[in-house]
Amino acid sequence: MKSLSKCTILIVDDAVVNIDILVSALENNYDLSVVLDGASALETIKEEKPDLILLDIDMPGIDGYEVCRRLKKDNRYKSIPIIFLTGFTSIKNKTKGFELGAVDYVTKPFEITEVTSRVKTHLELAVIRHELKNNNDLLEKRVLERTRELAVTQEITIQSLASLAEIRDDETGGHIMRTQHYVKLLAQYLTKAPRFEDMLTPDYIELLFKTAPLHDIGKVGIPDKVLLKPGKLTDKEFELMKTHTFLGKEALNKAKKFCGVTQTPDFIKMAQDIVYFHHEKWDGTGYPKNLSGNDIPLASRLMAVADVYDALVSNRVYRPAFPHDKAVEIIMDGHGSHFDPDIADAFIKIKEHFKQILIKFSDI
Ligand code: C2E
Ligand code: SIN
Ligand code: SIN
Ligand code: FE
Ligand code: FE
Repeated sequence: MKSLSKCTILIVDDAVVNIDILVSALENNYDLSVVLDGASALETIKEEKPDLILLDIDMPGIDGYEVCRRLKKDNRYKSIPIIFLTGFTSIKNKTKGFELGAVDYVTKPFEITEVTSRVKTHLELAVIRHELKNNNDLLEKRVLERTRELAVTQEITIQSLASLAEIRDDETGGHIMRTQHYVKLLAQYLTKAPRFEDMLTPDYIELLFKTAPLHDIGKVGIPDKVLLKPGKLTDKEFELMKTHTFLGKEALNKAKKFCGVTQTPDFIKMAQDIVYFHHEKWDGTGYPKNLSGNDIPLASRLMAVADVYDALVSNRVYRPAFPHDKAVEIIMDGHGSHFDPDIADAFIKIKEHFKQILIKFSDI
């Protein structure tokens, strides 16, 4: 912390007798500069920014009020405390002084001990204010750095978790990025729909984008002979396949318990919805819970369209990729049965954007 004795005070007064008294009272404790008029005051302040200004009002040329007004308008100088030291004693004058931003107002003839103690008080306050601001700036910077670091850590963790799930049945890994972008695209488009606009806030859409890659993490628990079976699954095999929703949800649940989390963060809530319910169908014939309609979380309904589109246009061990147009057809077949009708409609409106995303992220 800057010590008081290192502080500089600018005295601005056109009356030499006042200056003499002030200088002799203050010179032992502070560095002093003295000027006799407003214009010189403004010059001096530019050259040697003082820590406090004792300012007369009635001076030839630029008066004290005007000096104060100009300093308070200037970001470089507005934090310098100004004490008016003046023969103007009326309430009106005092009020004006404070309104212009002065920290104090002392009338002449003054009691010198009053002046010195007010100077001391205001310098102490200024030093503390300065320290506080420095601390706040530093804290803010640290919080920002830490937040950024956490966000990056979260992103890397999600990506590696997701790519572990994909690594066995997706050669390119592009599925992760594509579904992220599909689901964001759908959500952004649907912000225009009255039915969804309250839900689909920017925060919600960001969470959706971040959690989408996790939807199939449960597939790591599915044995190769099922996951990688080149042909159609038997009923029994498909039953096993369906458990990927439960396995994913349980992985998140266990991690949550392990970490002793009592209040589930929004990110984890949405991740669980997406992982557990992305195979539910609008008409209640999906899995694992046969939820229907709005009982299916919105994030999961959005994810369903994004996931199925990308599955259809991708090569699978069990079949080659469908062309975009065929995929659109299959999704339209699911309008109102597999998919929320409004979300399927939105997909149709923006299907060309889906195609663009497919092309853009096809070889990653
Ligand atoms: P996935 O391959 O990522 O497919 C995700 C979802 O996209 C499927 O969920 C289904 O709703 C849709 N989908 C994918 N391919 C087709 C298709 O050719 N036609 C139609 N109409 N829809 C399709 P679903 O059916 O619950 O399957 C979940 C996961 O189970 C699939 O994820 C895949 O990993 C596996 N799977 C499904 N069917 C087979 C299969 O016949 N053989 C093998 N080896 N795996 C399968
Ligand atoms: C909405 O009210 O706009 C959406 C509510 C929901 O998805 O449950
Ligand atoms: C609603 O239709 O009122 C809810 C919207 C939604 O959950 O999708
Ligand atoms: Fe899945
Ligand atoms: Fe998937």
